[in-house]
Amino acid sequence: MDKFLVRGGAELNGQINISGSKNSSLPILAATLLTDEPCIIGRVPDVSDTNYMIQILQNLGAHVERSSGTVRIEAKEIHHEAPYDLVRRMRASICVMGPLTARLKRAEVSLPGGCVIGDRPVDLHLRGLRELGAEISVEGGNILINAEAGLHGKEINMLGSHGSTVLGTDNLIMAAVLAEGATIIEGAAAEPEVKDLCDFLIKMGAKIEGAGTRRIVIEGVKKLHGAEHTVIPDRIEAGTYLVAGAVAGGTVTINRACAEHLTAVIDALCECGHGIDVNGEKITVTRNPDCNGCEITTATYPGFPTDMQAQMCALFTVTPGISVVTENIFPERFMHIAEMTRMGGKYQKENATVTVTGTPGGLTGAPVMASDLRASAALVLAALCARGETEINRVYHIDRGYEHIDEKLQQLGADIQRVRA
Ligand code: EPZ
Repeated sequence: MDKFLVRGGAELNGQINISGSKNSSLPILAATLLTDEPCIIGRVPDVSDTNYMIQILQNLGAHVERSSGTVRIEAKEIHHEAPYDLVRRMRASICVMGPLTARLKRAEVSLPGGCVIGDRPVDLHLRGLRELGAEISVEGGNILINAEAGLHGKEINMLGSHGSTVLGTDNLIMAAVLAEGATIIEGAAAEPEVKDLCDFLIKMGAKIEGAGTRRIVIEGVKKLHGAEHTVIPDRIEAGTYLVAGAVAGGTVTINRACAEHLTAVIDALCECGHGIDVNGEKITVTRNPDCNGCEITTATYPGFPTDMQAQMCALFTVTPGISVVTENIFPERFMHIAEMTRMGGKYQKENATVTVTGTPGGLTGAPVMASDLRASAALVLAALCARGETEINRVYHIDRGYEHIDEKLQQLGADIQRVRA
């Protein structure tokens, strides 16, 4: 198992390029199952989650070729069973359920198990497909879906107790594009990644209106065709490097980013007193040593993203004053706090709210354990400004979603080494 050794204290300066979005790529790759014609997807990041998705597509019978960021998929003949062995490695594999149901009228996908960021049910995914007319049962740990009587469009409300669901909305959209008649999704997820999936589906011949809003209307069509698409920039990777600049800059510029998708993160960094300059696809952050903390509350888009909560905790840990972080999407997503406490961070947790007492220069390097993707990114950020060396173990969590994070940080001047196991 690889680990990172980070020696804190180097000031970050310079530019890096942002990769394509992991969370756009995963459902878009799954959507290629909707047609027997070839699809070409550009700017797919080379991270282990996209590799898992490619393996699942291949296992389902698709022919896949990958050359740097471009993936060509031809799903001429596919079968309906996604095996446990692959699905268990990545929860997002659940998003093959919608396309398989739409194209083959049946699907068998393992029910995802426990997750380190908290309870992650799939009841809303199943509710959506049932409303379209699919019969669903769970047997032997697998979700069995039978839609041989056909899928029929309907008005469906997808809101759950924590708001809308991103992959649940994706699954329903991908099933509805080939259903008979119109599907109206109320309470749809409005995340840019859902909009990106819809943009790809529209290129394939789907009829979709309202993508990127809470109400999506889909008119089913008989068949979809092959298409080419380039995925949007990864807003979470971009946000992570902006926070890196705020924690350890200098001045850091990220290229090929979309500022519009980062409004909540940029607003929070500005509220803390850091300088942000947006120039087209370039965003520059200049650290202000006289910064202050602030309050963030995670929410569905365009609110503050849960996937940036851990990184902000790292920033607040070294920011003078008190900051307050409330996690509304995954209330138990605070694994990073225990690890950063080992580095000297000061936190008080009550239910889903953590109060951070920030101390500039207050962190010292320590051996820590990466627990999930974003928690691991937070540990790297904390390590960048800790005194001495931090050893971050289990970096395979980071490799799930950050393309070459060690190389990009080195490019900015960080002292970070990957030690191959
Ligand atoms: C997506 O997961 C992302 N994953 C997650 O990113 C992200 O944290 C999450 O959306 C929220 O933005 C991908 O896009 C691949 P949800 P998803 O369904 O779709 C509850 C990362 O770090 N819920 O929108 O699985 C759920 O428990 C990852 O890149 C139900 O109650 O998340 C949560 O409280 C981690 N029933 C809320 O909805 C359901 O059937 C939002 O979850 C489904 C979800």
